[in-house]
Amino acid sequence: MCPARNRYAVMSEGLLCQLDELEDPGTRGFQVQGPRGPAEIFLVRQGERIYAYLNSCPHTGGPLDWLPHQFLDLDRQTIQCATHDARFRIGDGICLSGPCVGQQLTAVEVVMRGRMIYLPEQAYRLPDGDRITGVE
Ligand code: FES
Repeated sequence: MCPARNRYAVMSEGLLCQLDELEDPGTRGFQVQGPRGPAEIFLVRQGERIYAYLNSCPHTGGPLDWLPHQFLDLDRQTIQCATHDARFRIGDGICLSGPCVGQQLTAVEVVMRGRMIYLPEQAYRLPDGDRITGVE
């Protein structure tokens, strides 16, 4: 069972959830501890693959989801920004259409152990060298 059902719930020990808790394709948002306080990430499942990104649109820095845990377009083919409808490729976060074409979502490293999905301690580094960690 996923340790938290709410989008803004805090994770512990880096465990995010099990692969089978995500629809295929499907998404789920999480809150993790960032260097300046909580930060939001989301997972995207495509088959047996998992992608993770910071929930921040490169256009304005605002969140992408249009409903809690909903990051995909209605056809579940791309990640969709709810604010100005930018569309991002699931596999690499590149913006394919909208006001930030060619820009990219910030990828977050996640680790699969069996069918469990974990956020490693140093999931990604911000441009200034700070890092995101799982909340204790
Ligand atoms: S904030 Fe995402 S497209 Fe404008």
